[in-house]
Amino acid sequence: MSKTIIVSNRLPVEFKISGNRIQSTPSVGGLATGLKSVHATGESLWIGWPGLTSEQIGDFDVALNRTASESRMANVFLKQAEVRDFYFGFSNKSLWPLFHYFLEYTLYDPKQWDAYYRVNQKYAECVLAHAEEGDRIWIHDYQLMLVPSMIREKRPDVSIGFFLHIPFPAFEIFRTCPWRDELLSGLLGADLIGFHTYDYVQHFLNSVKRIKGFSVKFNEVDANGRTVKVDSFPMGVDFNKFHFSAAKYEVTGQQFQSDLVNRLQDHLKQYPDSRLILSIDRLDYTKGIPNRIRAFQYFLERHPEYIGKVRLVMLAVPSREDVPQYRKLKRETDELVGRVNGKFATIDWTPIWYFYRSLPYEDLVALYTTSHIAMITPLRDGMNLVAKEYVATRIERDGVLILSEMAGAANELSQALLINPENMNQISETLDQALRMPLEEQRHRMEAMQKRLSRYTIEKWANDFVTSLEKTVRNTPNPAAC
Ligand code: ADP
Ligand code: F6P
Repeated sequence: MSKTIIVSNRLPVEFKISGNRIQSTPSVGGLATGLKSVHATGESLWIGWPGLTSEQIGDFDVALNRTASESRMANVFLKQAEVRDFYFGFSNKSLWPLFHYFLEYTLYDPKQWDAYYRVNQKYAECVLAHAEEGDRIWIHDYQLMLVPSMIREKRPDVSIGFFLHIPFPAFEIFRTCPWRDELLSGLLGADLIGFHTYDYVQHFLNSVKRIKGFSVKFNEVDANGRTVKVDSFPMGVDFNKFHFSAAKYEVTGQQFQSDLVNRLQDHLKQYPDSRLILSIDRLDYTKGIPNRIRAFQYFLERHPEYIGKVRLVMLAVPSREDVPQYRKLKRETDELVGRVNGKFATIDWTPIWYFYRSLPYEDLVALYTTSHIAMITPLRDGMNLVAKEYVATRIERDGVLILSEMAGAANELSQALLINPENMNQISETLDQALRMPLEEQRHRMEAMQKRLSRYTIEKWANDFVTSLEKTVRNTPNPAAC
């Protein structure tokens, strides 16, 4: 029976070796949460990096491979220098800032590009070692943009899909990359290339036309005689899982693993009129965390009537700490939170509760369900699944979502209160609007968003992509490698 081979930089779990035992924790991020549901239901093999360097793994490689294969996963082992130059290097110092329009953070180092090329080759070889006739290969995200053509060269017969989980930038931005040509050729080895939004599709096609000179008809590229289809597939969430977990939580009112959530519940019991504003993200400069804190400070200054009554619960999960900008952001966030709390706190009220950690799934759901408002303000975000997860957990259909128009999710969630993350005054007035919003209006908006998200789930997203890949391959049998 044929299978789907999912290929992503990281596996859905991160392995740790403690003494002589192998432990695993779930990987954080949209890609892992989303594809986990796909992997759980299908006939699939997931290829990726286990989160440890080869040096850390030492003699545990055989045991690690055994553990991975029990969950239908295969490891790509990376040496410390590869993690440094491929992952922290070209992926997160060049591509990540470039694709999120942070040109001032973008660094180009030929040594890191070489590592990116070599590591992409490693992933391609691992795929080739596992691919059997009839399998379909589904490659994910910016870390692996060369893998499609590397596989295509060796196996012209297999069907290859690629999905980008981050924005594809406008041509004027993308063209600044010294390896723009190679990146496009790498992607065009696929039969189908998917993006979250229509705009990203257009940006990509524009770059293909202007950089490669290939002709494009509607959403099909003629890549030297091979047809490559390009389309948008907005990623959804496992709506029922979030919805029913929230319903279960409401019924049982259980104790949670983290002290944070238990204390929040106690607080709400003690002060039933207080209002919680929630923000959750990886600590990433694209997520607009400093803007959000500054806007919250501005809001408290402009609307002192809310002092003592609202609280911003800000959860940030550690991310990419070896990249200097992430360490700088951590310092900046600590300082800003300290400044706001120092300025406004009273003996029994702290305006911002800030937590720098990851939370187990049940506690995350409890946080969503106890918060009256979710404030999600990225400066640029491919999709943003947190916004969708928040909506899915609102079983009473109350609550307000404040969402940046720069997040891919804003295209689908037009009933959210959409803001420009750079506009402090707008965010402040929108917070006021959210806090005063009548229940009827909250429900009206939530209902529309839930309707959309319960239809376009993560399962539907994966099915649509795979069906489209099969159709593309059937309708346009491609001759050979490009
Ligand atoms: P990204 O992929 O850029 O990290 P998304 O918003 O698309 O952003 O996805 C983030 C995912 O990570 C969500 O599924 C969310 O539930 C999860 N997540 C975010 N913060 C935490 C946290 N502190 N603890 C546990 N999971 C988290
Ligand atoms: O959404 C973009 C992304 O890079 C995903 O590939 C991943 O799920 C997430 O962000 C977390 O990033 P990292 O794997 O670098 O910790």
